[in-house]
Amino acid sequence: MAAAGGLLADAAFESVVEVADVRKRMSELEIRKLNWAADLHALDPLLDDRDRQRLPALWQCAQDDDAQVHVAEIDGRIVGRITTHYRLRSEMGWLPDADTERFQSEGNAYIETLMVQDDLRGKGIGKHLLDAAISSGVSRGITLFGLHTDEGNSGARRFYEREGWTLLHIVSPVWSNGSPMCVYARAGKSEKGSRDE
Ligand SMILES: CC(C)(COP(=O)(O)OP(=O)(O)OC[C@H]1O[C@@H](n2cnc3c(N)ncnc32)[C@H](O)[C@@H]1OP(=O)(O)O)[C@@H](O)C(=O)NCCC(=O)NCCS
Repeated sequence: MAAAGGLLADAAFESVVEVADVRKRMSELEIRKLNWAADLHALDPLLDDRDRQRLPALWQCAQDDDAQVHVAEIDGRIVGRITTHYRLRSEMGWLPDADTERFQSEGNAYIETLMVQDDLRGKGIGKHLLDAAISSGVSRGITLFGLHTDEGNSGARRFYEREGWTLLHIVSPVWSNGSPMCVYARAGKSEKGSRDE
């Protein structure tokens, strides 16, 4: 019994330490724009092959102010990212899809590749990244934001719905290889025209 009690006490101590550690790390959370010169190495673990392939095009779009990447940093490590596209640029390799096109034209913005490092999910980092992307878009006059997420990605769907996004419809665009994708949207400004940041 004494040994079991000891184990339980150890486990409780470890979980207290873990919570304290996570709190400390979260207090060091910084959401900022990607520094293209300095951050690429640190960003790499959060990229897949397609992201890596499209990086030079994304860099060019960002230089031209047609796209923006925000990252979440904790203690010098990049632990999350989000990309916002303001104008449809052919070099990004988009396949034809009415929603992707619509959200990158006429004062709209398209959110892509929101991702948080898997062991740090559920701690608010995704919300902070999304808020930063929306805030940046609103400050440049974006009135409508849109995104796709996999119909089966229930966690992400719950997340977007809680953040005030509305499901417009479900589609199977050519790039999803037949997978149904949810199209979500949210306004950039409130109906009164004030900033919704
Ligand atoms: C979706 C995602 C960006 C949310 O980031 P996050 O930092 O975990 O989000 P927050 O902590 O601000 O909000 C937590 C909510 O995210 C959702 N969520 C999705 N996946 C999650 C996970 N693995 N762990 C915890 N929460 C998750 C839940 O709805 C959760 O809300 P709940 O705690 O009420 O259930 C993140 O989970 C992620 O990177 N998922 C994998 C990539 C992905 O699916 N991106 C969306 C593509 S459109």
